[in-house]
Amino acid sequence: MVSQRAADVTPFMAMDVLERANERDDVIHLEVGEPDFSPPDRVIETAVDSLRAGHTNYTAARGKPALRRAIATYYDRTYGVAVDPNRVVVTPGTSPGLFLAMAALVDSGDEVVLTDPHYACYPNFVRVADGEVTTVPLDASEGFQPRVDDFAAAVGPDTRALLLNSPANPTGAVMDGETLSGLVDVAADAGATPVVDEVYHGLSYDATEHTVLEYTDDAFVLDGFSKRFAMTGWRLGWVIVPPDYVEAVNRLAQNVLICAPNFVQDAGVAALETPADRLDEVRATYRERRDLLVDAVEDWGIDLGYTPQGAYYLLADVSDLPGDALDVADLFLEAGVAVTPGVDFGDEAAEYLRFSYATDADAIETAIDRIDDLLATVGR
Ligand SMILES: Cc1ncc(COP(=O)(O)O)c(C=O)c1O
Repeated sequence: MVSQRAADVTPFMAMDVLERANERDDVIHLEVGEPDFSPPDRVIETAVDSLRAGHTNYTAARGKPALRRAIATYYDRTYGVAVDPNRVVVTPGTSPGLFLAMAALVDSGDEVVLTDPHYACYPNFVRVADGEVTTVPLDASEGFQPRVDDFAAAVGPDTRALLLNSPANPTGAVMDGETLSGLVDVAADAGATPVVDEVYHGLSYDATEHTVLEYTDDAFVLDGFSKRFAMTGWRLGWVIVPPDYVEAVNRLAQNVLICAPNFVQDAGVAALETPADRLDEVRATYRERRDLLVDAVEDWGIDLGYTPQGAYYLLADVSDLPGDALDVADLFLEAGVAVTPGVDFGDEAAEYLRFSYATDADAIETAIDRIDDLLATVGR
């Protein structure tokens, strides 16, 4: 019999939409969370060279020293924060890093506080660790910024972790420094640990990104190569681990993960050396697409209530359109545009749709035309 833990894990609706969208070949995919860029050429060449050089064995569970040093240097260069390479654990993607953090922190019944909306998979990671989820609602009119006071009210004696994400999926909100440092204080006062998913760092358009490590060493940072370097299928990420947890996390990684792929780790070093102008170009492209979609959504008479500042998502309230958000998503799909129903991202997002702009501008324009035509039929 399937364990209660596994039975409690909810499906990911975006994947369901993707499956249905793939039954047709003319659908425009605004439901995907996957960059449409290729990784930089040097990254690919480095992986191939590394494979040819025979770097196909296991590595140390915590990762190759050169990559761990390169990650530590990246924090110094990007945020002016000194990170001891001993605190860096390389993982096969950000998701296994999240698993390690939850496994290292959460005992049965411990509480993890997160925002609603939130990345769809977060509650499932907490459930797999036998923890309890508490959510703090966010508001579009406040740019989906967490309110520090709400978190202070939500934490209690059982709170072990605050699980945060910026730039955020599904809202595209970028947490400001004051909020992030306020949440660090809330965690410290409650004897809890901040766990911050920074996987969309590098993809912000109008906002300054802050790593939680600017405010404390007593935090887990989850990050990886999937998003800003467009390396989703390469499976490479890292965790910056609080000093007291380094050995426990390493033991977990040794047992559960063995290691991230050897030659992919070499490619990771090359990715971190990507010239800034290439990343600027990627950012400029996403920004143009965001502006295109934001304007279109407003033209449809939907008040976004905020400007998404990062990642490649926006979350739009469709409660004024006929039917519920699932019906609207179905109508959009019939019109040839796949989007993700908000219900994946928490109760607060149930009347919303998430649009991803990780798709080229021409396709986004066609999607907008299709939705324009569809909405014209319902008088919008
Ligand atoms: C917020 C967030 N965290 C983590 C991930 C997974 O990243 P990775 O491919 O590094 O496992 C995603 C993927 O969409 C995400 O949106």
